[in-house]
Amino acid sequence: MIFESHAHYDDEAFDGDREELLGSLRERGIGTVVNVCAAVDGLDDTVRLMEQYPFVYGAIGVHPDEVGSMDAQVLEKIQTLSRHPKAVAIGEIGLDYHWDTESHDTQKKWFCAQMEIARQEKKPFIIHSRDAAEDTLRTMKELRAGDMYGGVIHCFSYSVEIAREYLDMGLYLGIGGVLTFPNGKKLKEVAAYAPLEQILLETDSPYLSPVPNRGKRNSSLNLPYIAKELANIKGITYDQVVDITENNARKLFGL
Ligand code: NI
Repeated sequence: MIFESHAHYDDEAFDGDREELLGSLRERGIGTVVNVCAAVDGLDDTVRLMEQYPFVYGAIGVHPDEVGSMDAQVLEKIQTLSRHPKAVAIGEIGLDYHWDTESHDTQKKWFCAQMEIARQEKKPFIIHSRDAAEDTLRTMKELRAGDMYGGVIHCFSYSVEIAREYLDMGLYLGIGGVLTFPNGKKLKEVAAYAPLEQILLETDSPYLSPVPNRGKRNSSLNLPYIAKELANIKGITYDQVVDITENNARKLFGL
């Protein structure tokens, strides 16, 4: 069954039909979901979801756009929640110089602080990096020297050259709806280059719906479109894509 490695079901976009949607996933081939926390007020919601649904796991962390509401207490809360038996990763954390909601120094400070929790708690990490290729890579290389656990660069949006650096570090690339976009050529090149054993499927729901649902609210039910596109690019079967990416996710998240 398909492993959804990155969705935000705590988002208000799902307030109207969250139970119905999540309740229908397994019968429609989505076996496991990692709900990824992004904002400080999503921490408790993520815990609630993973306690309510047997197939939902959680990533605990605060997105770079949201680190303005971080302080020592929130950091402590992240560390405590990361010990929950269904918390499988620290994330999403990283750098976003596209929206530039917070200063680069503030973003780096909380990125590193949350990576330190991942190191201490021996958890994989889920990285968000947008228009910040150089600083993310530099930070990752410094932190790898401190013997980090594995992780995924989610919604990978950079070149093959940058992909190679992360793949060489043994990290995974998260690939989602952009793969199906007519202007997704760069990501198609990365998908062709990266070994399937280092790719995770994701939607980033409610964002980034694949073609043919582009522009609408996204959900894990759209993952087959992404898996089919990846199968075409790799010249393998849909089932191979689903099986191998599920194995990859289980290995990374220890499930
Ligand atoms: Ni996300």
